[in-house]
Amino acid sequence: MERNKLIEAALAAREASYSPYSGFAVGAALLAKDGRIFTGANIESASYTPTICAERVAFFTAVHQGVKDFSAISVVGGKAGEPVASYCAPCGVCRQVMAEFCTGDFEIVLYDGKTPKAYTLNDLLPERFGKEDLS
Ligand code: THU
Repeated sequence: MERNKLIEAALAAREASYSPYSGFAVGAALLAKDGRIFTGANIESASYTPTICAERVAFFTAVHQGVKDFSAISVVGGKAGEPVASYCAPCGVCRQVMAEFCTGDFEIVLYDGKTPKAYTLNDLLPERFGKEDLS
């Protein structure tokens, strides 16, 4: 799976963002190890706290369909109604959800509209708490 295809899927998913309060639209495309791509966009609420990030929509959609093995995610975000022009790194809550289902080599691909930038989960959430800690 080439990175560009995953970025294109995240950009397309961003079109479905429901973000009237922040005006910040995010899209995510999650690549499963079986080759399937699950997408998500942020969905906001007038009472703010129920808001969910694009990444978690993608993860929870996949897990609900029985898929739990992933190799990469692309995340793109920026001012709603405008093209993506800067990098949008996943929030801490989404990083923790990644840690639930992914190993340290899971790849997180960001895009500023020009140049892809890739990190691993180890890069973005070192020393993480996980299911191993509870066993
Ligand atoms: N947001 C995401 O969807 N993913 C992130 O990683 C960062 C933030 C959303 C949440 C909210 O709807 C908006 O961006 C502004 O915080």
